[in-house]
Amino acid sequence: MELSEPPLRLLFVCLGNICRSPSGENVMRSLVEAEGLEDSFQIDSAGTIGFHTGNPPDHRMTQAAQNRGIEMKGRARQVKANDLIDFDWVFAMDHENFSELKSIEKSSPDATAKIVLFCDFCEDHAEKEVPDPYYGGPEGFEKVLDLLEDGCSNFLNKWKEGNLS
Ligand code: 4NP
Repeated sequence: MELSEPPLRLLFVCLGNICRSPSGENVMRSLVEAEGLEDSFQIDSAGTIGFHTGNPPDHRMTQAAQNRGIEMKGRARQVKANDLIDFDWVFAMDHENFSELKSIEKSSPDATAKIVLFCDFCEDHAEKEVPDPYYGGPEGFEKVLDLLEDGCSNFLNKWKEGNLS
């Protein structure tokens, strides 16, 4: 019998957990499922604020994702200190999310997660952040998905090549 690796645990984090991070979660899940790798990953998302806790993803984001064949699942929740123990990689959508996560990490001596800016994995885009689409027009939701598809596929390729550091 082959010894199997434990799943790699990935958490996407934005502000409200109704637009960008649930999209990250579901884009990554759809890539993983397309390759039959669901046993190798555990994927979730959370927001730095609890304002939308329990809500489904924003309907504009859900529609934009559905147009690309991505089903949006999940309910909003707020990130917690234990997430930095329970996940291996935590992807911040923007610098503000990153700073929030780093301040949680500071007061969590047991935190082990790698907290990174998601756009560090983008290769086809120069953006350093996934911009908040909440108060903008439809193009903002498309930009979110463009960036997420770029970074998620690169992350998955690096994992397949054993190239994650
Ligand atoms: P998200 O977008 O952080 O990508 O989920 C937002 C959702 C809600 C709000 C802001 C951004 N809000 O202000 O309620």
